[in-house]
Amino acid sequence: MPQPTKTTMSLAVLSGKGGVGKTNLALNMAFALHRAGAKVLIMDFDVGLANMDVLLGIAPEKNLQDLLQSGVQAKDVVVAIEPGGLDFLPAASGVPELLDMDEDVKDMLFSKLNHVFGEYDFLFLDLGAGINPLVMQVAAMAMTRLLIVTPEPTSLTDGYAVVKVLSSQRGVRDFLVVANQVTTHAEGKATFERLALACKKFLDIDIDFFGSVLSDPAVPRAVRLQVPLLKSAPTSRAAKDILAVAARIVRFSRDNADILRELPILKNNFPQSS
Ligand SMILES: Nc1ncnc2c1ncn2[C@@H]1O[C@H](COP(=O)(O)OP(=O)(O)OP(=O)(O)O)[C@@H](O)[C@H]1O
Ligand SMILES: [Mg+2]
Repeated sequence: MPQPTKTTMSLAVLSGKGGVGKTNLALNMAFALHRAGAKVLIMDFDVGLANMDVLLGIAPEKNLQDLLQSGVQAKDVVVAIEPGGLDFLPAASGVPELLDMDEDVKDMLFSKLNHVFGEYDFLFLDLGAGINPLVMQVAAMAMTRLLIVTPEPTSLTDGYAVVKVLSSQRGVRDFLVVANQVTTHAEGKATFERLALACKKFLDIDIDFFGSVLSDPAVPRAVRLQVPLLKSAPTSRAAKDILAVAARIVRFSRDNADILRELPILKNNFPQSS
């Protein structure tokens, strides 16, 4: 894998349909990039039903909700997962109020988060499924978006809906797509092509294919073990596919380093019409 460069690249991981593999992919891509020498922060931004901590088999003391209190800083909440800069920022589960933060509270939260973001090469924001306004806002704030789909028609139509909402309401036109839980890589490519065709025809948007990940029993096994796939089954088929996606992310960050360097890690002002 090529060596990462020294800019922070933020990636929002999102999907229309739930349960397509966002959290597992975000976690294992973060592991892959860390192995390649990058400093990576995984942020659980599924503020309704946070569960990245469960996949890691840890019970963090503090989470995003604590950051809403004065005096608590982002560094107090960040947990080290692996030595050498693989860190985790947990969210609160079962706290739906976080979805309805008013703008002042959100500004305060993001200004605290910005203090730590710059220390990393990559920032993964694991979002909840669907088109909730906070999810759409955070997805639009990130430099890049990884849209996860599966070959199921429902996942594709919901994925299309995400592209439509983000483009029409927030002016976002760039999407990196990963097809997960595919039977063959040909099926993964065909899944992408179907989505790409609809995005081009109805929204005039060109989406990018970042690879596909085979459906692999090693993934649910890793979930049950609460040990990330790249640790529990590093040679599994899904792990190899995730490494290939991570390598594409590194290449993207190098190829676009000049552009990324000019962008805020999380953009606060973006066009919004609804
Ligand atoms: N490549 C794969 N092969 C087999 N099973 C998979 C694969 N990817 C994900 N899964 C399974 O799909 C389920 C959902 O995964 P995950 O929690 O990562 O999805 P999610 O998109 O984050 O869900 P949510 O929308 O609820 O946040 C898990 O039980 C996981 O084991
Ligand atoms: Mg999830």
